Amino acid sequence: MTQPLHNDRLLRALRREPVDCTPVWLMRQAGRYLPEYRATRKAAGSFLAMAKTPELACEVTLQPLRRFPLDAAILFSDILTVPDAMGLGLHFVEGEGPKFERPLRSVAEIDALAVPDMETELRYVMDAVRLIRRELDGRVPLIGFSGSPWTLACYMVEGGGSKDWGKVKALALNEPAAMHRLLTTITEAVIAYLSAQHAAGAQALQVFDTWGGTLGPAMYREFSLPYLTRIATALKGLGAPVILFGKGNAPHLDALFTSGADAIGVDWTVTLEDAARRNAGRVALQGNMDPAMLYGNPEAIRAQARAVLDSYAAGNGGSREGHVFNLGHGMSPDMNPDHVAVLVDEVHAYSKR
Ligand code: CP3
Repeated sequence: MTQPLHNDRLLRALRREPVDCTPVWLMRQAGRYLPEYRATRKAAGSFLAMAKTPELACEVTLQPLRRFPLDAAILFSDILTVPDAMGLGLHFVEGEGPKFERPLRSVAEIDALAVPDMETELRYVMDAVRLIRRELDGRVPLIGFSGSPWTLACYMVEGGGSKDWGKVKALALNEPAAMHRLLTTITEAVIAYLSAQHAAGAQALQVFDTWGGTLGPAMYREFSLPYLTRIATALKGLGAPVILFGKGNAPHLDALFTSGADAIGVDWTVTLEDAARRNAGRVALQGNMDPAMLYGNPEAIRAQARAVLDSYAAGNGGSREGHVFNLGHGMSPDMNPDHVAVLVDEVHAYSKR
């Protein structure tokens, strides 16, 4: 299990060490835009069957790496595996996204929640991590991940996606003590989940706070940020860099830079120049090309990639150190794989020194 790592650009950039060129990986790099992914999913019968079968999760994790010289693999799974293991009954409705059979509907149900056991209820995730590490054979590092407490609570209370997250925000307003107990239980589960992924072989850990940006500043500071900070602090001793990604987290960057995380992932509503200036070299930054730029033609994509790289350097004293190139959010099913090849090529070629 301890093969030497042949490409350590990602880990070096996350530690703000010099690299030969800027590392790049893409959120949702494994997914429906790849015909080989659609074939594996069809054979498996469903997304969940695929995610819960380590051999298939391993196969789809590796698919984008066979096509593109990406600098990291990300575990193929989902953030909702944790509430599923807590007994909420995850399933996916075609065209509607994730649904829980038993969403949280009372304070009694919140208080009855327990942290799942990582090597039994979530063993399939750890088995996938172990298998992927073996199959990667040290080519690139493997990123493990989890949802943030607030983002997981959103799905657990609503029972699925939502336009306004009204139920979960009402709970936060009307039953703040119960909301904090829920977030505390989820935080303990996330820390155990990420620690177990690291023990199984994950070399970097990302927390997705996808819906933190739907909170106003006061509620973000009460219901999301403290739990992100607790996770980053708890994982510090592990030795695996921790990336906190937050959609719409630009107003909170100053707090996130001192959260204890090694890197902050940002979306495209902030320039990396501005983010890097405010950061002043404290952590690494990950991001932040608008995923929709992948709908552009190859020349437009190359220009956008260069603009993101230059924006970071402009805010970081002219240096590319401490930057991990990524999109500001995930890829979409209708994107052209050839455009991903163009993007990865431009990031590497333009940032080469
Ligand atoms: O990035 C990767 O390649 C790793 C795999 C990954 C998936 N989900 C696979 C997936 C990761 C990192 C996630 C995280 C995730 N899941 C998040 C946070 C990241 C983000 O996008 O903000 C969230 C909010 C979820 C919850 C979730 N899972 C939703 C809303 C959906 C439906 C979305 C859709 O596009 O249909 C999923 C399903 C899901 N998870 C898919 C994939 C590839 C699509 C499933 C399919 O094949 O139909």
